[in-house]
Amino acid sequence: MHKQIFLPSSMKNLSRLIILFFCAMIVASASAAEPAVNLVYGKVEKNNGGSGKTFAGREIASVMSWHGAGWLERAERKTEERPDLLLQALEPKPGMVIADIGTGSGYYARQLATRVGTNGKVFAVDVQPQMLDILNKQIQAMGIKNITPVLSTERDVNLAKDSIDLAIMVDVYHELQYPIEVMTSLIKALKPDGQLVLVEFRAEDPNVPINAHHKMSQAQIKKEAALLGLTWVKTISTLPWQHVVILRK
Ligand SMILES: C[S@@+](CC[C@H](N)C(=O)[O-])C[C@H]1O[C@@H](n2cnc3c(N)ncnc32)[C@H](O)[C@@H]1O
Repeated sequence: MHKQIFLPSSMKNLSRLIILFFCAMIVASASAAEPAVNLVYGKVEKNNGGSGKTFAGREIASVMSWHGAGWLERAERKTEERPDLLLQALEPKPGMVIADIGTGSGYYARQLATRVGTNGKVFAVDVQPQMLDILNKQIQAMGIKNITPVLSTERDVNLAKDSIDLAIMVDVYHELQYPIEVMTSLIKALKPDGQLVLVEFRAEDPNVPINAHHKMSQAQIKKEAALLGLTWVKTISTLPWQHVVILRK
């Protein structure tokens, strides 16, 4: 014979509360065990050089205006940043299809165009049409035929799927206002064995005379690359001011 246990209503409420408490504990411990994927944007009070928007624990920088294009073409850049060493590290080969994302005035696009030759191509991509106007004037004056200017959006590089052998971003990634969306579109545009190179001013070095929001540490670059589904290949440390981080999709 079974005995039926009658509990007073206050006891029933107490037992319901205890069950609810244990359910909440199980849910909390399950979510704590999940990987720390943080594909969301946050907000902070806007700092000097920052955008007020955060991603992966970093305040995204504000976009460098086309009014500053002259700084990208300054003569001292050759000694301060050693573009010759960067071009050597990029290993551009004749016939390659290269995308210079955030090309600005086309300082690197122009130099890459001569290295990929007439069978190769450089897509010079920028979100500011004024930057592409400056680039267009330069390539017309120089008679360069293998650069195609591409106007991107804040979220999309506007390049065809599986079309790019090598994509470079020189001093650009830190100022993408939508890094998740831009990198997703860029990963689609890379060929299956395509490479992406991020060049960023070294945050670890206080002697690099650049606004803190426009610098990145190697650890932060690697952390964000992993969040975005990119594989780190190697970091080249031959440049005086910048990290050169090679990634694969
Ligand atoms: C600091 S400049 C670097 C220009 C060039 N890479 C160089 O080293 O001479 C950054 C450039 O990135 C561009 N940019 C920022 N966000 C972008 C985006 N979402 N898509 C394409 N270009 C972007 C800006 O318009 C600007 O021309």
